[in-house]
Amino acid sequence: MKIWVSAALLLLGSMMSGAIQAQSSELYQQLGERSGIETIVEEMLLGVADDERIAHYFADVDILRLHKLISEQVCNVSGGPCEYTGESMAVSHNNLGINNADFNALVEHLIAAMEQENVPVSAQNELLALLAPMHQDIVE
Ligand code: HEM
Repeated sequence: MKIWVSAALLLLGSMMSGAIQAQSSELYQQLGERSGIETIVEEMLLGVADDERIAHYFADVDILRLHKLISEQVCNVSGGPCEYTGESMAVSHNNLGINNADFNALVEHLIAAMEQENVPVSAQNELLALLAPMHQDIVE
């Protein structure tokens, strides 16, 4: 009896971990899961801070908070097990006066960070396609 219970628990455990794995998507894994995403977002923000075209937007921003929120968001849209706890894109970028060139500049740094972390190009494109619809809420 004892053996059967242990065997049943083992089976249940392996089924559950399988289910959890199936839930977190391939894209999330290709981005290096939570720690890979945090590194990518950090590198992107370092690039942004060094880019005189757009650095001024971030002069008064709490960068640690922004890092946490963008990481949550990328984790969430890529199918990872994260909840995004920030404001909507429309609210948080309202009245900042961000234009297309600014948007493209930030995307350049995101791509450079993904390159740096050896994210496959197909996965890079998949993430960019998931972020693209946010353009209309960010750019004025
Ligand atoms: C796909 C592109 C982008 C994504 C996914 C994104 C994501 C985010 C997120 C998650 C936040 C935090 C929201 C909150 O405060 O609760 C935020 C804030 C902010 N973003 Fe973006 N963003 C994008 C593009 C841009 C661009 C192109 C700029 C400027 C060049 C920009 C400038 C800012 C600034 C200045 C804040 C801080 C606003 C504040 O705290 O008052 N973002 N963004």
